[in-house]
Amino acid sequence: MTKEYDLVVLGGGPGGYAAAIRASQLGLQTAIVEQDKLGGTCLHYGCIPSKALLRSAEVYRQTNEASSYGIEINNTVALNFKKVQQRKEKIIDTLHRGVEALMKQGKIDVYKGIGRILGPSIFSPMPGTISIEYENEQENTMIVPKNILLATGSNPKSIPGLAVDGKNILGSKEALELTELPASMVIVGGGVIGIEWASMLSDFGVKITVVEASSNILPNEDEAISKKLEAELRKKGIEFIKNAHILPDTLEVNEQLKINCSVNEDTRTIHTDKLLIAVGREANVTNIGLENTDILISDGVIQTDGFYRTKESHIYAIGDCIGGMQLAHVATQEGVLAAEHIAGQNPYPIEYTNVPRCIYSFPEAASVGLTEMQAVEQGFEVKVGQFPFQNNGKALVYGESEGFVKIIADVKTNDIIGVHMIGPHVTDMISEAGLAKVLNASPWEITQSIYPHPSLSEVFGEAALAVEGLQIHG
Ligand code: NAI
Repeated sequence: MTKEYDLVVLGGGPGGYAAAIRASQLGLQTAIVEQDKLGGTCLHYGCIPSKALLRSAEVYRQTNEASSYGIEINNTVALNFKKVQQRKEKIIDTLHRGVEALMKQGKIDVYKGIGRILGPSIFSPMPGTISIEYENEQENTMIVPKNILLATGSNPKSIPGLAVDGKNILGSKEALELTELPASMVIVGGGVIGIEWASMLSDFGVKITVVEASSNILPNEDEAISKKLEAELRKKGIEFIKNAHILPDTLEVNEQLKINCSVNEDTRTIHTDKLLIAVGREANVTNIGLENTDILISDGVIQTDGFYRTKESHIYAIGDCIGGMQLAHVATQEGVLAAEHIAGQNPYPIEYTNVPRCIYSFPEAASVGLTEMQAVEQGFEVKVGQFPFQNNGKALVYGESEGFVKIIADVKTNDIIGVHMIGPHVTDMISEAGLAKVLNASPWEITQSIYPHPSLSEVFGEAALAVEGLQIHG
């Protein structure tokens, strides 16, 4: 039996399901094929569960610091990690049911199985019939869509010789399933995942060592942010070994793990309870039938044009499987644009330098646009304004005054090139900088907005004033 659709989406993550919703809003008969659960990595193994654990870590840390706010807790503060995990599961469950409801509301058919693209066949002269294979013995379903959207996401990269076993060596997915906290953990990779886990586990009382290959953690962020964040994380007792590579063949597994890493010319031995591997993610491009098409893959990712069309013009691809900024909000926007293009609209392309990036550690960090070094390398003559949270009343009231906002502007045009923040609630504050970038605002235009007092957002306004040396409070 075959069923016909205008659009079939492979992958029900934040890219895939958002695309399906927009397609259905625009009148396309739409289906999603998802082998696991709607919501994808973001909802089940990434953004949402990790933020739920980070929030519990924050409450635990703040409760331990309660006396500095004048609140005396006489009995010991105890961490019940089982309850922490239960809370996380409940949040995932609520959101998962929400996504399922959205599919029903949009009259989007959901197939729970593995979808693969077939080559030209009796069903269609073009590659693109989708065969859906189920976990049980049920016969495959064949669906014949007019268009396909690949939103198959990514999986963690591995380090040869250090296979994730879920026991001693974990990836971020396995770490989310921990039933109890280890006493110590070595995190390989000081990128976004490594740093969020380092901050969270350290707040839960785990002894953390981060082994990072580059000379800075978060090597893609502005150096001022990486340095400040590292300094703040060191205050919690996190150790950083930089310019370092783990040496997999030195791993010894006894009561504890023992492993060496090379640091510049030296070798260091580390003892730990568990290892967490967080060295990036790679696109899911295998086992989906791409070999039956003319779709190009380069550097491990699917190649597309500005509207996310592959070389097969009726097959589109978005999100982590096309590389670029592997972020849920990017996948969502790409999915929406692809759906609009499939429906015959002419959507406005994404300007990737306007995409905010957030790190939910404590302190948080967030940015949009170029780093100062990237701006200089690209030939911009830059002017920079920076303003600290320490000079902000609300940050002092809040009890979190470490950090700053840094604005980089172009001397010639006055346009903002990049905004970099570290401090309280900056993962929310960055949206204003994102809007300013979309509107091509100059620092002066930002200062024409009136910032409520007292508010953390005043730091953004003061940083804009600081670009011309006109800040009031510092
Ligand atoms: P990443 O690319 O952010 O960082 C990987 C880090 O590992 C880099 O600093 C790199 O220098 C280092 N590295 C690579 N190989 C190494 C080795 N052999 N030894 C030591 N260090 C090594 O990748 P990550 O953290 O795994 O995150 C994957 C993706 O997920 C990223 O694109 C990230 O943006 C996204 N993500 C986003 C989040 C957010 O928006 N808050 C949260 C978590 C992940």
